[in-house]
Amino acid sequence: MSKNDFNNAVKRIGVLTSGGDAPGMNAAVRAVVRSAVYRSIEVIGIRRGWQGLINGDMFQMSTKDVSHIINTGGTILYTARSQEFRTHEGRQKAYNNCRLFGLDGIVAIGGDGTFSGALALSTEFPISVVGIPGTIDNDIGCTHYSIGYDTAANTAMEAIDKLRDTMKSHERCSVIEVMGHRAGNLALYVGIATGATSVLIPEEPWDIQKDVVEKIQAARVAGRTNFMVVVAEGAHPKKSPEPEEDSMAEGTGAGYMVGQMINKHLGLEPRVTVLGHIQRGGAPSARDRVTATRMGHYAVNVLAEGKTNRIVVHKDGAITDVDMVEGLKLHNTLNENEKVVVKAMTGVY
Ligand code: F6P
Repeated sequence: MSKNDFNNAVKRIGVLTSGGDAPGMNAAVRAVVRSAVYRSIEVIGIRRGWQGLINGDMFQMSTKDVSHIINTGGTILYTARSQEFRTHEGRQKAYNNCRLFGLDGIVAIGGDGTFSGALALSTEFPISVVGIPGTIDNDIGCTHYSIGYDTAANTAMEAIDKLRDTMKSHERCSVIEVMGHRAGNLALYVGIATGATSVLIPEEPWDIQKDVVEKIQAARVAGRTNFMVVVAEGAHPKKSPEPEEDSMAEGTGAGYMVGQMINKHLGLEPRVTVLGHIQRGGAPSARDRVTATRMGHYAVNVLAEGKTNRIVVHKDGAITDVDMVEGLKLHNTLNENEKVVVKAMTGVY
């Protein structure tokens, strides 16, 4: 099929990245631009997410703008979390810019919050929207995979492997806090990849005795002298913590709480490492580059076919799309297989 044979429902589309950035977002932007150009659709880049649409922070994109970015982390379009876009007045301003720039559709790359914004805009105004899942948390209910997860998991795994070296030398206990917002996907996955002694996730509030103390004791009895406890940033104990654990220094989170409890219950002096935003950076893995490229290409086709309110998803290895309203009703569920595997791999020696 030659370029001109396409019968496009849209002539000019916008593309933006919103929420926390994720490695592979640039590959998705590149794929959107290149696929649109392939179909003779014009692309307007919107900087700083929904806030950029409100402010008219927009520019025409060509394939040159996306050359040499498939391998880079971050997002060339910048990202933001916009409070103003949560209001009707904010969305009215955004829509005015859609008209001014002649946009028929928007590809929004981000998480659930990004998609809720897209849906609110398209419900109030005649503009087509399609979402591409991009978050290292992999916590979007309607898709099995979101761009950035694999790279973030590898970054965390490599960091934990390094920590293990020094923990082994000093025969220490290490507590590593990984990101994930309110979801335990990343912690569970990284916990398996690093052979953690214990993995704590928000979906299953921890019992310090059963989930941590007994597992470390079992490892020690079996001859281990270093212990790796992986904690999701949103994890919390079953019962509210005792007073002295409540009075944690400001700015400390789940990892420090677990470290304090291990010290109290076992007398060990764990070293706590919060991996933090390092997990969001770096060159995207092959999996993230390929998934982002496939999703970006798919998203342009969705808009070109005249569809709106869709989320591009990864289901059982295939790239497909779901209705945005239905998709947003689905909540993140942990991979049951991974949960079972973590149970079998920890505390048994
Ligand atoms: O959603 C991605 C994420 O990195 C979460 O894992 C984390 O809780 C949050 O964003 C951190 O956000 P911020 O960029 O505001 O520090």
